[in-house]
Amino acid sequence: MAVQTLKDLLDAGVEGRGVLVRSDLNVPLDGATITDPGRIVASAPTIKALAEAGAKVVVTAHLGRPKGEPDPKFSLAPVAAKLGEVLGRNVQLAGDVVGQDALARSEGLTDGDILLLENIRFDPRETSKDDAERLALARDLVELVGDDGAFVSDGFGVVHRKQASVYDVATLLPHYAGTLVAAEVEVLARLSADSERPYAVVLGGSKVSDKLAVIEALAPKVDTLVIGGGMCFTFLAAQGISVGNSLLEESMIETCKGLLDQFGDVIHIPQDVVIADSFSADAEAKTVPVTEIEDGWMGLDIGPESVARFAHHLAGAKTVFWNGPMGVFEFAKFADGTKGVAEAIIEATGKGAFSVVGGGDSAAAVRLLGLPEDGFSHISTGGGASLEYLEGKELPGIAVLEG
Ligand code: 3PG
Repeated sequence: MAVQTLKDLLDAGVEGRGVLVRSDLNVPLDGATITDPGRIVASAPTIKALAEAGAKVVVTAHLGRPKGEPDPKFSLAPVAAKLGEVLGRNVQLAGDVVGQDALARSEGLTDGDILLLENIRFDPRETSKDDAERLALARDLVELVGDDGAFVSDGFGVVHRKQASVYDVATLLPHYAGTLVAAEVEVLARLSADSERPYAVVLGGSKVSDKLAVIEALAPKVDTLVIGGGMCFTFLAAQGISVGNSLLEESMIETCKGLLDQFGDVIHIPQDVVIADSFSADAEAKTVPVTEIEDGWMGLDIGPESVARFAHHLAGAKTVFWNGPMGVFEFAKFADGTKGVAEAIIEATGKGAFSVVGGGDSAAAVRLLGLPEDGFSHISTGGGASLEYLEGKELPGIAVLEG
């Protein structure tokens, strides 16, 4: 891509210079415990390189979707501790976003210090639709690194958001793509052009409506598109199958019918499913053909026959993109579908396929299910961002770096 990278900035010299880094440190939490530190680990190299080169590093990031005001539930405190541990360096956490504490701490930074600002979404201007409001916050961020500061965009998971710390700040400072953003874009570009065939896509997750644009963009381009997870029940319903209490998007049934009519030779949906009498880890569960989902029961995973069929479609693939779990993998009883399909992708990778896990829940599933991360060619840190990239949409956080 025609953008300046971290290497360009390091070559220019950053010793003693303030550098603002936008990272995506939006990790899943159970209380104050980080359940998957993947994004922190992936964000570390850029921050480390800058600190080692003597920059005064100010990191800004969000956590969850607070309502534009401080909320202790969404504090970056656990993230600051984990980031420090991963970097093996002290990471200070400011008590506010761009307030007195952030300002005082940024003024006190010495070469190689790292300051993490509190959750940027505690400030309502971050996500404002008003350009002037966002720009005002961007100006406050610039003040923390000074007029000779620089901006490094490394939060790939948020580059699809036109937000102050992602987009506007890049219009005010010399800007560079961090190593994570550069690597992610390179990989996704490989999935968009000149992909080696056969090209297989695995989509899961709960809602068809969330994935509709990517299905429409990819179905005409790929050889196989297998669909599992909660969204498969709307496709099953589109075939006139009764899905009991399974997740169903009534308003999408007609759309799914149309997709099956148009791309029936490419799209594959499950033949069997694991159904449960309630949505819980210890629900009663049984495997049935999709045509035998009883009233009052809900499908929480794809069944073994579907895994075998999906694995067959993945076996010869040379390019694979996977986004979305096949079932409720967080509950052991309903994790086999996700695990089986992930193993099939790992096998294809072992035979030379280029495989990409498209962030979010699927990346968490890989780690939670104990699957080898190096079994895939690339695990993206961006769920929504990687989908929007593959849909062919312009990502504001990338486009602004090109200017
Ligand atoms: C993500 O989790 O996909 C990114 O951190 C973006 O978060 P958002 O969807 O709340 O903007």
